[in-house]
Amino acid sequence: MGDATVMEKLVSLAKRRGFVFQSSEIYGGLGSVWDYGPLGVELKKNLRERWWRSMVHGREDIEGIDAAILMHPRVWEASGHVAGFTDPLTDCRQCKHRFRADDPRLKGTPGEPDAQCPVCGSRGTLTAPRLFNLMFKTFIGPVEEAAAVVYLRPETAQGIYVNYLNVLQSSRQKVPFGIAQVGKAFRNEITPGNFIFRTREFEQMEMQFFVKPGEDERWFEYWRAERLAWHGAMGITETKLRLHQHTAEELAHYAKAAFDIQYEFPFGWQEFEGIHNRTDFDLRRHQEHSGKKLEYVDTGSGERFVPYIVETSLGLDRLLLVVLVDAYREEVVEGDTRVVLRLHPAVAPIKAGVFPLVKKDGMPEVARNVFDDLRRRMPVFYDESGSIGRRYRRQDEAGTPFGITVDGQTVQERTVTVRDRDTLAQDRVGLDHVASYLRERLER
Ligand code: GAP
Repeated sequence: MGDATVMEKLVSLAKRRGFVFQSSEIYGGLGSVWDYGPLGVELKKNLRERWWRSMVHGREDIEGIDAAILMHPRVWEASGHVAGFTDPLTDCRQCKHRFRADDPRLKGTPGEPDAQCPVCGSRGTLTAPRLFNLMFKTFIGPVEEAAAVVYLRPETAQGIYVNYLNVLQSSRQKVPFGIAQVGKAFRNEITPGNFIFRTREFEQMEMQFFVKPGEDERWFEYWRAERLAWHGAMGITETKLRLHQHTAEELAHYAKAAFDIQYEFPFGWQEFEGIHNRTDFDLRRHQEHSGKKLEYVDTGSGERFVPYIVETSLGLDRLLLVVLVDAYREEVVEGDTRVVLRLHPAVAPIKAGVFPLVKKDGMPEVARNVFDDLRRRMPVFYDESGSIGRRYRRQDEAGTPFGITVDGQTVQERTVTVRDRDTLAQDRVGLDHVASYLRERLER
């Protein structure tokens, strides 16, 4: 399979099976904005919950919050986003296309007579680069004037920094401790693309870990290793994961050091999580701009300091793309090619399909009873239409890890077969033990 083909097939499967749809599709779609369908919303929820369980519930030293998307506009002055969250842009005066000035397709230097537009091929028509801020602006209240401008947050992190004292005082945490948040972020990306890889509206799962200055490098290493291991534990192919250390040119304005966790997508190695040592940059800037002291006082030693911050920042939509790409397989089974999503059972949208072998001899009634019992405990799907082979294939494509079939033996022996999506092995399980059997396999 060529790499372009894998992405095309995945986009098509995502739409056909209800993982991801183009936003406002009946109106021709909206550029780089996507909607999640019935299977996509479950997969996304499972990934979000898995992150939350490991980062918040599983730890005594991290608290969760949910800050608003709209924030005081001065937050973005303090954070450096008003001045510095920009991309250089160039326009072709001939065909009106717009590009990032560092777009590798451009030939020559934009603004110079020899520069060539990659779309219409004209020379000398590309404007000199201008800086373009990626934040979406809107207005608060009924008047559209400069004083009423607010931004849609371009990262969730700032909602954590401005609440750092609130959380510290209300939770009785002590440094080192972290604050985690999951929420929407917005960027008016100039060159979005590659399906849900780079979009204008996306969800981030961020954790900011507050540490004593001098201990930041140790925690930075700790979180880098933890986060990489987390992806491995979800079964992401280890050879397709790697760390990339930022060079001085790549470092964001707030970071002293940074690592990307990259995945080898069909379109190349790309970041999907960032680990940043943000130093005391953010808290100091908020301290200066708000006039409010954001120091930490060590109750034992009486020492005062502005904590350093180690950040882990994971894009939920991008993680979902990693999970889908990594799970996608085409396999030949008994002479037929099947498409299967080998999703980790814990994040699979549907845990089991329930099928009567045939629509007679009391099998549908027993299968519906099994289905009704299971659906109270986990997402399951009942299907009695088409051959049993086709029903298995439909669930393989949806990434459903188990297929439960009620057959002739069920009625006599009170057992069903449970088919494993990946090994295709079939176990016979007592009717009364189906739920506990699945629970045990899902938790492995
Ligand atoms: N608070 C730090 C921060 O926002 P970032 O490297 O700009 O750092 C972190 O973004 C993560 O957010 C990325 O690794 C990616 O997973 C996700 N992300 C960023 N921009 C995105 C976009 N336009 N579309 C989808 N995900 C995006």
